This record gives sequence, C-alpha cells and structure tokens, in this order.
Amino acid sequence: MTSMKFPKDFLWGAATASYQIEGAWNEDGKGESIWDRFTHQPFKILNGDNGDIACDHYHRMPEDVQLMKKIGLQSYRFSISWPRIFPAGYGEVNQKGVDFYNRLVDQLLAAGISPNITLNHWDLPQALQEKGGWPNRDTANYFTDYSALIFKQLGDRVDLWSTFNEPWVISSLGYGDGIFAPGISDKSQGYQAAHHLLLAHGNTVKIFRDGNYKGKIGIVLSMTNNRPATQSEADIAACKRVNQDNYGFFLDPIYKGAYPKDFMEWIGPHAPKIKPGDLEKINQPIDYLGVNYYMTFEVAFSNLGGLLKIDMQQKSASNWDFTPEIGFSINPDGLTTLLGYIRKEYNNPPIYITENGCTVEEKPNEEGFIMDWGRIDYIRAHLRALHTAIQEGSDIRGYTVWSLFDNFEWTFGYKPRFGIIRVDYQTLERYPKQSAFWYQEVIKNNGLDY
Ligand code: NOJ
Repeated sequence: MTSMKFPKDFLWGAATASYQIEGAWNEDGKGESIWDRFTHQPFKILNGDNGDIACDHYHRMPEDVQLMKKIGLQSYRFSISWPRIFPAGYGEVNQKGVDFYNRLVDQLLAAGISPNITLNHWDLPQALQEKGGWPNRDTANYFTDYSALIFKQLGDRVDLWSTFNEPWVISSLGYGDGIFAPGISDKSQGYQAAHHLLLAHGNTVKIFRDGNYKGKIGIVLSMTNNRPATQSEADIAACKRVNQDNYGFFLDPIYKGAYPKDFMEWIGPHAPKIKPGDLEKINQPIDYLGVNYYMTFEVAFSNLGGLLKIDMQQKSASNWDFTPEIGFSINPDGLTTLLGYIRKEYNNPPIYITENGCTVEEKPNEEGFIMDWGRIDYIRAHLRALHTAIQEGSDIRGYTVWSLFDNFEWTFGYKPRFGIIRVDYQTLERYPKQSAFWYQEVIKNNGLDY
C-alpha cells in the first residue's frame, strides 16, 4: 500500500449544474431556457423526463449546503441559470434570481466552502435562441452583459469562475448534431456557435480583469482521451481531427491565438466566419483550465464517418467494464495520458479537474443507504492517475467529483445516477452514499492510501 498525498492547498470539491438540480423552472420570474423548451417536446429525453423539479435544489438550497458542510467539501462548483437572472436573456434583471445566488454564495462561505461558479452550463435563455442562439454574434454580447452583472453582484466573494462548461457540447451536440438543446443539426451553425462561445469567453475574461475581481477565471472543457485505432497514417490523422474538434478548436485560440489551420481547411465551408480582432479577444490569458474527464476512445478513419471521416469506439481499460445506464468507458490511465498531452501542447497550464465520476449499479437498503464501492473504486483509480500526472509535472490544483447529487442527466433523464448523495425522486429526500463518507476522509487527509 502506498500513501498518496496531494499538493498543499489542493482543492477538493463536488459539482452540479443549474438545469440538472434546481427545478423551479418557471418560478420567481425565471425565464424559459433552451433546455426547458427541448425537454418539453416529445421523444427528446428518455422516459419523457425533464428538469421541471429535478432535485428541487432551488427550494432546498440551505439544507443542501449543510450536507456539503457535513461531507467536508472545500469547494462547490455550480452554475448560474442565465434565464433566472435575465428572463429575456438581456434587459430587465430578475432580482429574485440574483437574490437566490447571493444567498447561496453567502451560505457556502458561512459553511467554509469556496464557491466555484460556472457562468453557463448550457441553459441559454430561449428568448435568445429565438434570435438565432449561439450562431448569432449578438449572443456573445448578451453573455458578456450577463457576466458583468454577475461579477458586480458576486465578484467580491467568489474564488473560482469559469465562463462556460463544455462549449464543445453546446456547439457540436446542440447546433451541429442536434441531439442536445436547441436541437439544430447544421455543421456550419455548430462551428459558428463555437466561435461565438469563444468570443463571449474572451470578452468576459477581459471585463473580469478590468473589474479587478479577486478570484481566478478559466474555462471548462470536456476532454476525452483519444488514441488512434492503429498506427496507420489515416487512423493517426483521424484521431488528430477528433482532438482538434474536441479541444484544439477551443484551446488553440485561447492559448495560441489561432484556430488549427489544417482542421479549418478540413471543415472547409463549415469553418466559422471570423471578424478582424476576434482572435485577439479570444487570446486572453486565463488563470486555469478546467478539465472534465470521463472516457477514452479509439479513433479510426471511416469513409462513412461524417464530416470528420471518423469512427469512434469507447475503450475501457482491460480491468474495467463500462458504466451502467449510460455506457461510458472507464480508463483511469487515460487521464494521465490526457494531462500529459495538455502539459506538452499548451505549456503546462494550471489545471483543475472540474468533473470526474461515474454511475454504478446501486440499490438502496430500506433506510435509503447505498454501499457504492464501485464508485469509490472508480474515484480512487482516477485520483491515482491524477497523482501520477502531478508527479510527471502537471500543475494540478484541485479535483471535483461529478456529482454532488443524483440529477437530471440530459437526454438520459434521471436513469443514470452520478451522485455521491442519492436523491429519492419521489420524496426528494437526500441520502449520502458510502462514497460521500469515503470522500470525506480523502479530503481530511488531503490524500489516500492506495
Ligand atoms: C459533463 C457535463 O458537464 C455534466 O452536465 C454531465 O452530467 C456529466 N458530464 C456526466 O455526463
């Protein structure tokens, strides 16, 4: 058994997102979001589920903060619902929405928990989608105005900020493929959306700097670990295209001030329209990169593989299975590989692991308790992989479990349960699982035995 200690000041947390936990979708002046609209249509979501009630966090926030305190979280990553603040996306402010997040931040601080705020985790105001959504350049300006208001309201008390959660999911799954809200399937709109998300990101970082706020700001990306299926030139090139689509398209402009040239040529007429000066705006120094890591893919060239000509297969490590209900591959070492790639490609930026976690087979006893050893094994293995990356020289500042609660898992509805706290969706009671108590020890010891 070896003992793994994490660096001094390493930050341990858990994460959620507004649409996935808040509920109260049309209460206290909140406007409709694209996820409200999407989930209210038939056949979009497994079992016809939606986030109308979700975990009812909007009404149960004080008791939820007390639970976080009991677990000993040092940091809580959550997102703000833009349409709760600006029901129409811009213009008139909904004060009750602002008050909710003000109370949340104050209660977290009183509980000794550092707030880590994501400005947008996918729930764009529907009113802005009516104007074209992210493919419309104006949306980037509305986002910056919204962010400016949030900074003014909360900027004195928040240590960590991110502009967006997984912008690739918004642009690619929301606008390129249409399997997520707002359900548009058009590659050109997808890449244009990505460019505007980046523009909104850059402009927001700029106003954050200009305001001299005390916290740090970054962006959170979904980063799968991808490897070529064979060493053939075609497979290696296909894998590179996936990396460029998934992260190079975002990180190259942010860290290097340019989109990947060969990738832009590959997508040809679907490449976004860029105005002079845009790349300078995007190329703002950020304080950290947020990495959400879940899975590993093997990538092969395929003639039938859409615009990118790829075939992607999830690959678990030989001693791991796939996660139930949602079928994610499990490959802890993939995290070490991915972090090594970022270290080399982007000059070893400070990193927070902003999401990592899994579903497991779980059945509560009659007390509602769940012995989720599978989740503990998963997190332990990923912490080990993370520790290895730190020893190899990566600058890792913290780890965040996805998720604090079982919650609304997008198109999969409530079936997959990612929480270290169980939510009984009938009674909305919360039940910390064994993993929550195990994690409490990890936090206390700033490490674990392996
Ligand atoms: C990443 C997303 O940010 C989050 O919303 C989602 O629930 C998890 N992945 C699990 O799929």
